[in-house]
Amino acid sequence: MNKAKAFLFDLDGVIVDTAVFHYQAWRRMANSLGFDISEHFNESLKGVSRMDSLNLILAQGGVTLSEEQKLALATQKNEWYLELVSQMTPGDILPGVTDFFVQVKAAGLKTALGSVSKNAKLILERIGMLDDFDAIIDGTKIERGKPDPEVFLKGAEELGLQPADCVVFEDAVAGIEAARRAGMRTVGIGTPEILTEADLVVPDLRGLAVNEAIELPFKV
Ligand code: BG6
Ligand code: MG
Repeated sequence: MNKAKAFLFDLDGVIVDTAVFHYQAWRRMANSLGFDISEHFNESLKGVSRMDSLNLILAQGGVTLSEEQKLALATQKNEWYLELVSQMTPGDILPGVTDFFVQVKAAGLKTALGSVSKNAKLILERIGMLDDFDAIIDGTKIERGKPDPEVFLKGAEELGLQPADCVVFEDAVAGIEAARRAGMRTVGIGTPEILTEADLVVPDLRGLAVNEAIELPFKV
């Protein structure tokens, strides 16, 4: 097995807990249309683009709307989301992330962000991590959201590396699938019951040794 030369990180739910804010904002929108969305259903929205998420939620609520109405709702959701994001500080970085990055840099690994969010740079700026990545691939640079592998393939390409050189850190089922389709090894952040396809699952980055991730084998 290749030793990894780069780690590719998802943003929402891996670096920072914005997954909760996405859920709150989508829930507010669903409630305004007269239905609710569960936390379990929310798992299927993680890593999925804004418009794809909206379509899944409307289907869940049995609501049919015009493209114009959908755009207005997506804009409204994003405004609610940004209200929540605007309160964020470096204190919102998830446990273990800062220490892990120190070790990653010390080990000489490259880092990339692989997020389908169009708000990724704004969030990185708010938490003071904009300069911590050698490459940033976000929702403004890709055409297809996860589970399409585009975001991670572009990350490897921008770093000048092959997929086999990369390990991806993801909290979303769609994100693990995207990384696997890109031919990359995966560390799931969350629970093994949900992230069944990840090569390794940890609750967060506390206590994960960089060397273990560098030498991570594909799950058999
Ligand atoms: C992903 C989130 O990172 O970004 C999804 O997991 C979200 O929940 C997607 O829908 C798009 O984000 P944004 O910020 O462009 O609406
Ligand atoms: Mg995520």
